[in-house]
Amino acid sequence: MSKSAIKDTMDALVIELNQHTYNYYVLAMPTIADYEFDKKLEALAKLEKEYPEFADPDSPTLKVGGDITKTFKTVNHKWPMLSLGNTYNEQDLRDFDDRVRKALGDNFEYVCELKFDGLSISLTYEHNKLVRAVTRGDGRKGDDVTSNVKTINNIPHHLRTNAAPELFEIRGEILMHRAAFEKLNREREEIGEITYANPRNFAAGTVKMQDSREVAKRPLDCFLYALNTDKTLFKTHWESLQTLITWGFHISEHNILASSMDEVFAFIKHWENERYKLSYDIDGIVIKVNSYSQQQELGFTSKSPRWAISYKYKAQEVETVLEKVTYQVGRTGAVTPVANLKPVQLAGTTVKRATLHNANEIERLDLHLGDTVFVEKGGEIIPKIINVNLEKRKTDALPVIYPLTCPECNTNLIRKEGEVAFYCPNDEGCPPQIVGKIQHFISRKAMNIDGLGDETIETFYQRGLIRHISDLYTLKNQAEALKTIDRFGEKSIENMLKGIELSKQMPFEKVLFGLGIRYVGETVARKLAYGTGSIDRLATATVEELTTIDEIGQRIAESIREYFSKPEHLHQIERLKAYGLQFMAKEIAITLESDKLTGKTFVISGVFEQFNREDLKELIESNGGKLLSSISAKLGYLVAGDNMGPAKLEKAKKLNIPLISADDLLEMLK
Ligand code: IVH
Repeated sequence: MSKSAIKDTMDALVIELNQHTYNYYVLAMPTIADYEFDKKLEALAKLEKEYPEFADPDSPTLKVGGDITKTFKTVNHKWPMLSLGNTYNEQDLRDFDDRVRKALGDNFEYVCELKFDGLSISLTYEHNKLVRAVTRGDGRKGDDVTSNVKTINNIPHHLRTNAAPELFEIRGEILMHRAAFEKLNREREEIGEITYANPRNFAAGTVKMQDSREVAKRPLDCFLYALNTDKTLFKTHWESLQTLITWGFHISEHNILASSMDEVFAFIKHWENERYKLSYDIDGIVIKVNSYSQQQELGFTSKSPRWAISYKYKAQEVETVLEKVTYQVGRTGAVTPVANLKPVQLAGTTVKRATLHNANEIERLDLHLGDTVFVEKGGEIIPKIINVNLEKRKTDALPVIYPLTCPECNTNLIRKEGEVAFYCPNDEGCPPQIVGKIQHFISRKAMNIDGLGDETIETFYQRGLIRHISDLYTLKNQAEALKTIDRFGEKSIENMLKGIELSKQMPFEKVLFGLGIRYVGETVARKLAYGTGSIDRLATATVEELTTIDEIGQRIAESIREYFSKPEHLHQIERLKAYGLQFMAKEIAITLESDKLTGKTFVISGVFEQFNREDLKELIESNGGKLLSSISAKLGYLVAGDNMGPAKLEKAKKLNIPLISADDLLEMLK
């Protein structure tokens, strides 16, 4: 390669890697696997060593990585947050061990830990109180996300110990468990929100949210793994971890002490497969020299400690052939490409399909039919294509072209400004959209209609029995047609009709959620129902009026306006009204602020069918009431929901505290 070509290659790598760093740290939306990133970084470092004259001062090899988001206060780290050197194979790890052994001799131990795949956080405690939580940022300074981090249950706000120093910092990793990730992502998909690619991105996106109340609704967890103090309190890292447990911190129970590399490798081998049984993702393991004085002896490079290293697991990856790409049309009309693959074994399951997310992804991969692709299974259930093996591409292979029209109904697809997904706008005539909307309406979280399931809806649609949500309420007039459906006996029909009849009692917010307006999820539906009071007010409210309602932003408001601008939708609502569905919020306007509860105290306990706790708390406080943290003789009322703990109930009864329902509380506000 000529010198100028080498310089061009290096410059291109700098630009590319800096973009990936930005995607990862700032947007929390990486578009490259960690492994590939590290390989590219390594290639750049090698070139810089050979050709230092071409090294860019802005090179990512000189940085810890990261950037600061504008909207949070920037805080300097008292102890810089360095990164760890990465290794991917046994030899690299042996080289690390040789370096350590050369400096320390043979008399030392390692602590082996899991490498949590989340985002690192620095927590500062002063006088036993959590005073600050800061993201890693660029390693020297990060974002102050204290109020968001305080919503994480297992991060103590106060410590119950008198052994902790006046000021210390503890570091750890915030993550989201896979089950919560999948559930929340499904909910986002249901309301047409963009989904997150993995739990780490979801956790990172959550910690950087502007509204802590939203953060509190998303379950995050935190594992802690390092202590920083001005004066050395402990001799070893292990000792400090054991003590941190007694101070109330969440430390992984899987850490071990290892006195030989054999033990380290056994730990690595064990977790290589066992990691799939954990409820959260790890992407490797971390090895740290145990003794603090030995750590000091080894010191740091400009980026990372010489006394610790990570061993990263390669994501399980296989090669297979892309047979075709099909397109799924969802309830909201979003058209998602799906790769149909030659079946292949991966991480214990047969993989036949992989998600391609959207048109950009097809473009990014420059996908051709018949391509040999690398499929990776991370923590997620659905595998993804990470790369194409270009060497195996046939010369006459045809590129995959994202369709211009809907694969189900042929309508021209549209893409809204600033959005990645293409949509089929034919919501009234496109079969999967029609079926999907009715399925959403009957679902548990919406109208919760007993005796009806997704498959039945599909069959009814195919038989021409239903086309709209409102047709559910005329099914009772179709008794003869219903009887002709296989496996749908008299009893089932009776149950279903009973369920449909009962749904007429469902409150307005459930009906509103069931209508399936884009971006109107459960919480938003509740806010809108109580914020406007009725469908008529909602249907005529302007964008400006809607955005005055708590949590309703421009995007949601515009989506609502668009929905009610369509005559078909208004016609459907009129029909549903005529059948007796609820389109008025309960009499009380919850947004109301008053002093009706002044001087009264409350504890909220249990779960509530129609409210979430945050709303109830807000309601009490905005009307002058006070919330207490526990039941005592001073307490005025216990607002009791379902599944309340028996101990609490007993205590309240013993102290003669009045138990009230959420409805009783509303009654007090009338
Ligand atoms: S120790 C000086 N321990 O990995 C190094 N890091 O690549 C301090 N991580 O930024 C980090 N699990 O976000 C350490 N058990 C663990 C870890 C861990 C995950 C993350 C952390 C760090 C990154 C370094």
